[in-house]
Amino acid sequence: MKQEITAEQWKTLQEAAYAAMKLSYSPYSHFPVGAAALTDDGRIVSGANIENASYGLTLCAECSLVSDLIRTGGGRLVAFACVDSNGDPCSPCGRCRQILSEHGGPDMLLQMAEGVMTMAEVLPGMFTPQDLV
Ligand code: THU
Repeated sequence: MKQEITAEQWKTLQEAAYAAMKLSYSPYSHFPVGAAALTDDGRIVSGANIENASYGLTLCAECSLVSDLIRTGGGRLVAFACVDSNGDPCSPCGRCRQILSEHGGPDMLLQMAEGVMTMAEVLPGMFTPQDLV
């Protein structure tokens, strides 16, 4: 179900994403990323990127966020914001769009540099649990 997000809620998400970004472990890229999302029961979940000396094993901020979602009781992601060290929107990579889509579905809202977009817009033709049936 589509949910309207107020400007104040977007600001709260940006601030939570920025706070998470400050906790990033990114000694290799020096590109800290923070992500935060509003859940359908009103929680705010967040995460930061966690890099590894084996570079390819890096966890994006979105992966940490989904871990926080499940650890704190699950539910659906309604709205999502991701920021870089300047606090500017960071575009979720392709893999992270797929990972987020599992928990937010096509109507999930994402704050992009271009403005607010739905998951269906940023990941058209997404692979869903329904495709396994
Ligand atoms: N990164 C994220 O955390 N999320 C994204 O969607 C894009 C990239 C991180 C991974 C890596 O630690 C750093 O940004 C540079 O690629």
